Amino acid sequence: MVVALAQLAGKHILLIIGGGIAAYKSLELIRRMQDAGAAVTPVLTKAGAQFVTPLSVSALAGTGVHQDLFDLTAEAEMGHIELSRAAELVVVAPATADLMAKMAHGHANDLASTLLMATDKQVLIAPAMNVRMWEHPATQRNLATLQEDGILVVGPEDGGMACGEFGAGRMSEVPQIIDAAAAAFGGCPLRGKHILVTSGPTHEPIDPVRYIANRSSGAQGLAIAQALLSLGASVTFVTGPTDKPAPKGAQVVHVQTARDMQDAVRAALPADAAVFAAAVADWRVVGESQSKIKKTKDGMPALEFAENPDILAEVSQLEKGRPNLVVGFAAETDDVIANATAKRKRKGCDWIVANDVSPATGIMGGAENDVTLIDQNGSEDWPRMSKDAVAAKLAKRIAEALL
Ligand code: CTP
Repeated sequence: MVVALAQLAGKHILLIIGGGIAAYKSLELIRRMQDAGAAVTPVLTKAGAQFVTPLSVSALAGTGVHQDLFDLTAEAEMGHIELSRAAELVVVAPATADLMAKMAHGHANDLASTLLMATDKQVLIAPAMNVRMWEHPATQRNLATLQEDGILVVGPEDGGMACGEFGAGRMSEVPQIIDAAAAAFGGCPLRGKHILVTSGPTHEPIDPVRYIANRSSGAQGLAIAQALLSLGASVTFVTGPTDKPAPKGAQVVHVQTARDMQDAVRAALPADAAVFAAAVADWRVVGESQSKIKKTKDGMPALEFAENPDILAEVSQLEKGRPNLVVGFAAETDDVIANATAKRKRKGCDWIVANDVSPATGIMGGAENDVTLIDQNGSEDWPRMSKDAVAAKLAKRIAEALL
C-alpha cells in the first residue's frame, strides 16, 4: 500500500462504476485513492446507480458524478472526449460482463462506453460477475480481446459471491485494485526485492549526557528509502538519530552508535541490495563513562578513541550472503573522485556515490546534492539536483541492476 501511496500521489483517475453488487466497494476505492493523493472523477453507469446512489459517490469523491452522455450541463462544462482524456488512468470497477462486452466490441451507447472508446489513456478493469458469466466463452473471448488491446485487468478473485455461488468472479479487494492502479503508473520493478538502507549520523557517547556526532541530517538516506519503496522494494531502514520522519512502509530500526548500526545491519541481512548512506562515526570513545564526567581541578579529561567497525566494508566483503549490489557513499572535502574511487576499491563495494561535503557546497544538511556515481567502469557526474531527485535516479539504477 505504501508503494501505491507514492505512485498515486498527484494522479488524476477516472473511475467508472458499473452495475454490480461489488459497486459498494467502489465507494471505499474512491476513499483509498484519495488517501493515496489521487484526484478521482467518478462516472456512474445507469446500472451502477441501481447499486450505489449518485449522492454517495459524489459526496465521497467531493466532485459531481457524471452519469449521462447527453447531460447538457456537463457537456457544456466538459465534453466527454475531454473527460476521458483529462485523467491519467481510467479504472473500471466493477467491470461487469456487459461493460466488458461493450469495450471489446467498441460500443459507445452510453457515457461509460463512450468514454472508454474516446480515451487515449491506460485502462484498468476490475471484473466482477457471477462465476458462470465469468466462465462463459463470450466473456473469456472478450477478456482475451481486451488484454490484446492492452487493457490491464485485476482479478477477479475466487470466493463466495453475493449470488450464493462459489468460484471466480468476485471483484478484487480495494488494496489489490489500488496496487494494480499504482503498477499502471510506471510499475514496481523492485517488488519482491529486499533492500537495506543505512541513514543519518551515529552518536558515540562520551558519558550519559555527551556524545560525538556529525552533521548528517539523514535527508539523503530517507529520500533513497522512499524512492526504493515507491518502486515496490521492501526496505529495512537502519537510522541513526535524526529529526526526519521515518519512511512510511519501511521496517525501521533506530540505532545510536556505529556498533548498534552494525548489529542492526547484520540482523537485516539477507538483502538483494544494500545502500550505505549513513555517516558513521569513524571513532568511538574508549571506556565511555557511566556517570557524567565532572569538571575537576585536574584539568580536562583525556579522551581515548577506538576505531569503529566499517559496516560497509564488512558487508561488501561477506563471503556468504553478500547482497547482489552494495552501494556506499563517500563524503569527501578534497580530491573527491580520486578519494572515492580508492574508497570503492578499499571497501569492496560495487558503487560509490561520491559527494563534496565542503561547507561551501551546502550539501550536508541542505536539500540538494551534487554527486558522482563511481562503479568499476569509471565515474559519471550527475548534475546538481534535489536529494529526492538523486534518490529517484539512484533507485531506478538499482532496479535496472537487479533485473
Ligand atoms: N561507513 C560504514 N561504516 C563506517 C564508516 C563508513 O559503513 N564505520 C560507510 C558509510 O556509510 C559510507 C561509506 O562507508 O557509505 C564511506 O563513508 P565515509 O565517511 O565517506 O568514509 P570513511 O570510511 O569514514 O573514510 P574517511 O573518513 O577516511 O573518508
